[in-house]
Amino acid sequence: MRKPYVAGNWKMNLDRAGAVKLAQEVARQSDGRGVEVGVAPPFVYVSAVSEALRGTGIHVAAQNCYYEASGAFTGEVSPGMVLDAGADSVIIGHSERRHIFGETDEQVNKKVRSALAAGLNVILCIGETLDEREANKTESVCERHTREGLKGVAAEQMAKVVVAYEPVWAIGTGKTATPGQAQEVHAFVRGLVAKLYNKQTADALRIQYGGSVKADNALELMSQADIDGALVGGASLKVEPFLAIIAAAQKAKGL
Ligand code: 13P
Repeated sequence: MRKPYVAGNWKMNLDRAGAVKLAQEVARQSDGRGVEVGVAPPFVYVSAVSEALRGTGIHVAAQNCYYEASGAFTGEVSPGMVLDAGADSVIIGHSERRHIFGETDEQVNKKVRSALAAGLNVILCIGETLDEREANKTESVCERHTREGLKGVAAEQMAKVVVAYEPVWAIGTGKTATPGQAQEVHAFVRGLVAKLYNKQTADALRIQYGGSVKADNALELMSQADIDGALVGGASLKVEPFLAIIAAAQKAKGL
């Protein structure tokens, strides 16, 4: 069975004290039995949060990174720096990176390969906009994000990759994909990964759902066969809803 993975993407929120406190409380109160848990603080708090979570088994992820190792790239942070700050993972290709900051599939792919080469775990985000869904392009967009994002990634490296399906129209809007809609895309992506790699790689791949996951919809979403956890935005900024989503993952998977 795939171990469910619930990660909190804190986006551009919290301050240093609030980030450390939230991390400490999640670690103190969570019974993470059978579930992988992670948090993704803003870059400047990665060190402090990693320090606070040392030895707890909770993953710390950066929300982005650049693909070069060092050099004249003002404002950017390399995968090696992310590791050095204490994180073990990085979110790449989040829809806010793609749509607000114009990241392309090619850039996303370079980041994925560079992060994996540096030894980071990668959460690769994919997902269609509302216009794309209404134009029946959900599968073609998710296929392109997955195929292009993983170009040049070897089957052995896929153990360090998690895919997060985040339909853009469901992020921060309070509109969640129905469990059926999400399951359909997750199954499609798993099938695609089986074609790109092999069945074993596809069966082992965790695919998180993201987009307005809350305490009250998490159980139904994660009860779907191909939904292996959640990438949570707003509801990860407070201890109780985030813990409730972790508990929902346990319940959904019979842990
Ligand atoms: P919300 O849970 O706030 O909709 O955000 C989802 C998300 O983008 C997580 O990466």
